[in-house]
Amino acid sequence: MKRVCDHLHGGPPLLDADVEGVAPDLSGWGFDHAIFRAALTHYRPRLVIEVGTWKGGSAIHMAQLMRELGIDGEVVCVDTWLGAPIAWTREPQLKDSLRLAGGYPQLYATFARNVRDAGVEDLITPLPASSDGGYAVLKHFGVVADVIYIDGDHEYAAVRRDLDNYFSLLSPQGTLIADDFGCWPGVTQAAKEFAEAHDLYAVKQREKIALSRIDIAAALGLESDGHYERRAA
Ligand SMILES: C[S@@+](CC[C@H](N)C(=O)[O-])C[C@H]1O[C@@H](n2cnc3c(N)ncnc32)[C@H](O)[C@@H]1O
Repeated sequence: MKRVCDHLHGGPPLLDADVEGVAPDLSGWGFDHAIFRAALTHYRPRLVIEVGTWKGGSAIHMAQLMRELGIDGEVVCVDTWLGAPIAWTREPQLKDSLRLAGGYPQLYATFARNVRDAGVEDLITPLPASSDGGYAVLKHFGVVADVIYIDGDHEYAAVRRDLDNYFSLLSPQGTLIADDFGCWPGVTQAAKEFAEAHDLYAVKQREKIALSRIDIAAALGLESDGHYERRAA
């Protein structure tokens, strides 16, 4: 099967990204969570889709796991690289991370620098687009993935839409993982409603939730943290 990077870029585009003079900065949130190793070990996925990449923390972690586990795979990263609204409204250190130049974020350069430093530029495929736009592109190319990580806009309507859209790109046995379940009300409500609407198995561990048509806790050997678990009927 043709790799997404070949469809989009004719090969891994970060191999020749110019990161001269860009400072490395891999700050992020919970990107070394055990759920990633469990999911990659179980599925050995040829393709992981990540919606919301920021500086690359979780994508790089998954790419490094692919390399360690000998998986011939690819992590496709869908992000505008413009940051979330809270970077402008709530948290000064997030605004600094945007690295505004002439008023426009240079976050993508930080991401590219981090990917280059980690030596996984052959495994990471950027798709600079809104989550809706990225979905349309991946759908156009008939992409199907075993593991999809949703960590973009955290507001209820946006999460619900991302779950709806990207679920249609998920393989029948695959899993959707969402970040910030139990921490962001919009994520929690959207993921619970989604699990119920599609009668999915779901298991929460710390801030992440895995949703699947299969018994995902058993498949991944994941123990629920006791706050939310759902079995399909
Ligand atoms: C929480 S960060 C992702 C963190 C990353 N997964 C990690 O672990 O380091 C959220 C990211 O989603 C992106 N984002 C927010 N809304 C988006 C949208 N509608 N479409 C695409 N990307 C979006 C932001 O640009 C930001 O980089």
